[in-house]
Amino acid sequence: MIRAFVFVIANLLGISTVLASGGDGVPLKHVDVNFSDKAALYRGAETYLARCATCHSAKYMRYGRVATDLKLNKNQLAALLPPGAKPGSEMMGFMSEDYAKETFGVVPPDLSLIARVKGADWLYTYLTSFYADPTKRWGVNNAVFPDVGMPDVFAAEQGVLQPVYTDVKLPDGSIDKRLSHLEGPLVPGSMSPAEFDHTVKDLVSFMVYMSEPAKMQRMTYGPYVLIFILIFMVLLYLVKKEYWRDIKKVPDND
Ligand code: HEC
Repeated sequence: MIRAFVFVIANLLGISTVLASGGDGVPLKHVDVNFSDKAALYRGAETYLARCATCHSAKYMRYGRVATDLKLNKNQLAALLPPGAKPGSEMMGFMSEDYAKETFGVVPPDLSLIARVKGADWLYTYLTSFYADPTKRWGVNNAVFPDVGMPDVFAAEQGVLQPVYTDVKLPDGSIDKRLSHLEGPLVPGSMSPAEFDHTVKDLVSFMVYMSEPAKMQRMTYGPYVLIFILIFMVLLYLVKKEYWRDIKKVPDND
């Protein structure tokens, strides 16, 4: 059945924005990822390690690689390293799989490649769309991940968003409650909506970088490659002129 779904997300000003979905599912909020803003990526790395690595691993990434790519100095790298970790260590989660399974029923998935699998917009929407749902184990649900098994880790900073439901009449006459939109928290979070938005954007940017670190190198080399091609074209042009000068000297026989 096609879900006609209108999803409202409290925007930066705390005013709700209506986004109509084109079809099934919840419309995603767009996020711009800027790899050249190394400070933002570093803030994202800090948030990731402080708030996500408790439960999740990102085992395809190493601390040293982050330091090289983000051009971190020694102190910045040291600040990222958890106790016992070396620059060459993989970014493992801090929770044992057994403990996680017992607590959450699932092992929190490795997040190294999650941005590539789900996309930056999905991640951004996911991290900002937890809402109060007392029927769930952690007291929260998620608009893009129904019945999510992850707690709302930013509840203190964002405040807990409140759901508004609409009654949808099913073909058999029964009424189904559907999430219509989310409203601001009853108790404001410790961060303003704008601050929280920045924090999540930086975090998502870091996760996008993490899922494809080579992309950053491509972006660094890109301009040099273009300059090289430009110089090469000028040289080619000069060579061409040189050749044609001789050819044009040949008299016309006709
Ligand atoms: C307290 C433990 C815990 C913390 C902290 C935590 N997560 Fe999770 N996360 C989980 C669990 C458990 C799941 C699996 C949920 C499920 O399958 O229902 C999950 C799922 C996810 C998913 C969905 C993955 C998928 O395959 O669809 C993403 C994305 C995610 N977490 C990102 C984050 C980010 C980013 C942070 C840090 C801001 C974070 N998590 C912090 C426990 C945690």
